[in-house]
Amino acid sequence: MKPDLEKIVLSAEQIASRNQEVAQEIDVHYQDCERDILLITLLDGAIVFTADLIRNLNVPLHLDCIRVSSYGNSTNPETAPRILGTLKSDVKDKHVLLVDDILDTGNTMKKVYNEVVKKEPASLKTCVFLDKPERRQNDFQADWSGFNIPDEFVVGYGLDYAGRYRQLPYLATLKPSVYS
Ligand code: IMP
Ligand code: MG
Repeated sequence: MKPDLEKIVLSAEQIASRNQEVAQEIDVHYQDCERDILLITLLDGAIVFTADLIRNLNVPLHLDCIRVSSYGNSTNPETAPRILGTLKSDVKDKHVLLVDDILDTGNTMKKVYNEVVKKEPASLKTCVFLDKPERRQNDFQADWSGFNIPDEFVVGYGLDYAGRYRQLPYLATLKPSVYS
């Protein structure tokens, strides 16, 4: 294990196997859908999860990205989520699936959800890799979630601390010394 890490929370194998299950549930949900779905991923954190998820999905899809920022260099949201930039796709009348890395306070997903809903999609669903229900500050619930985890700051599989550790193929916690 790398020296900065305290413990592995989810192994690459656990993640890969759960991703297949989630993708299967999503496929079942959209199986009678006559049009391609529009999968919108929230950069930067969801990039790794999305890359794996879409390769497990059979439903025809178009991919778009939206960039949202709320963290500076700390483990707590420093600012209200800000949507940076715009989507390239027209959302109106599309079956939209929003994908993020983690539902923490829920503020990011709620904000993006409300923005997308205004564009009148045919349907709007959400999928997250992780859910930390204890941290929620609103009533937001994802339609699909990979894993529920306790209230601990985690890195890897796309999630960062101060921009680092996104490339780890597993999910881990950091040693307290890393934060000081
Ligand atoms: P929320 O708006 O509080 O739900 O936070 C969502 C965003 O915060 C996620 O998309 C992540 O980028 C970030 N975040 C929340 N918890 C963690 C964590 O444990 N590790 C790394 N990033 C996190
Ligand atoms: Mg994020």
